[in-house]
Amino acid sequence: MHAHATIQPREGILEIAPYKGGERYALGANRTIKLSSNENPLGPSPAARAAYLAAIDGLALYPDGAATALRDAIAGAHGLETAQIVCGAGSDELIALLCKAYAGPGDEVLYSQHGFLMYRISAMAAGATPVTAPETDLTTDIDAMIAGLSDRTRLVFVANPNNPTGTMVGEDGLARLADALPQRALLVIDAAYAEYVRQPGHDGGIGLVQSRDNVVMTRTFSKIHGLAALRLGWTYAPGHVIDVLNRVRGPFNVTAPAQAAGEAAIRDGAYVEHCAVTNEVWRDWLSKELTGSGFPVVPSLANFILVDTSGRAAEVDAYLKTRGIIVRRMEGYGLPGHLRISIGDEAACRAVADAMAGFDGEAS
Ligand SMILES: Cc1ncc(COP(=O)(O)O)c(C=O)c1O
Repeated sequence: MHAHATIQPREGILEIAPYKGGERYALGANRTIKLSSNENPLGPSPAARAAYLAAIDGLALYPDGAATALRDAIAGAHGLETAQIVCGAGSDELIALLCKAYAGPGDEVLYSQHGFLMYRISAMAAGATPVTAPETDLTTDIDAMIAGLSDRTRLVFVANPNNPTGTMVGEDGLARLADALPQRALLVIDAAYAEYVRQPGHDGGIGLVQSRDNVVMTRTFSKIHGLAALRLGWTYAPGHVIDVLNRVRGPFNVTAPAQAAGEAAIRDGAYVEHCAVTNEVWRDWLSKELTGSGFPVVPSLANFILVDTSGRAAEVDAYLKTRGIIVRRMEGYGLPGHLRISIGDEAACRAVADAMAGFDGEAS
């Protein structure tokens, strides 16, 4: 045990279960197909790679603390005001900063039953109380979320689409939730997977931020932009929230190579589109294949699928590992019978489909 007799962190910190990232290696297999962290199998845009390499000449200097060129590029790509954007070291940092700034002991942070785990961790790290609302059909239930609000609620997180379910709620539902919030609460729309949604007009929550002063959107460069290693995310928010985030963030929270690569990545809209289309093709193909092999798949709008193993998750996971395929177990999300599989490239999807088709055969 690491607990010290007299030196103790604030109450509640030792109750936090540390976040467990996706596994990286399958021991014994001679190659690993990593499908455990929803990364982009196509990698970053060539322009982002080049910008990252070029940043080597500036390594002795502190980065631009305001990340102005990057924020301008984000604003340009999405038609936003630069002044309403703050960047962070991954959207994880922005989630943590929102909790730190807006929630503390006695306050509640609300999210859905199978919501992204960092909401719970960040709420507890801030000393606040995490509260969950039940889902319906593995989808955020707006009525249940509204029923979960109290006068202590300070933050409400909705990942849309959600990780690990891959499901989404419509803008109307989010608007209804925002309008039902108590006066002191903020709605955070976590749009980490928004670029994968192929519905016309889907803006990840931008319109809701623009029409209200209690809605914030977070985005990431870790998913479709293929820059997870660089830790880069951004928030689009009303001015009063931007002001708060700028007070609590570290002065140089985004590295210069990350700023350079992110700027190039967001300018390469054609590459983003290519990745979204490729993901859609292989996600839908793999979903169909697995369903055909007797593994129902939750219909997903993101770059991963949640697969029902009928209670055989441990067995299927171990079997996939023998084939070098690493997926994500879902116990931490209260879904012990499911596995989450990221959509890899064509070869990876074919390897998964092939392996899963063979699973029953081996078992029986
Ligand atoms: C819903 C959701 N939000 C946020 C993140 C964090 O992303 P990052 O900190 O890499 O930007 C993830 C990563 O898996 C996610 O699934």
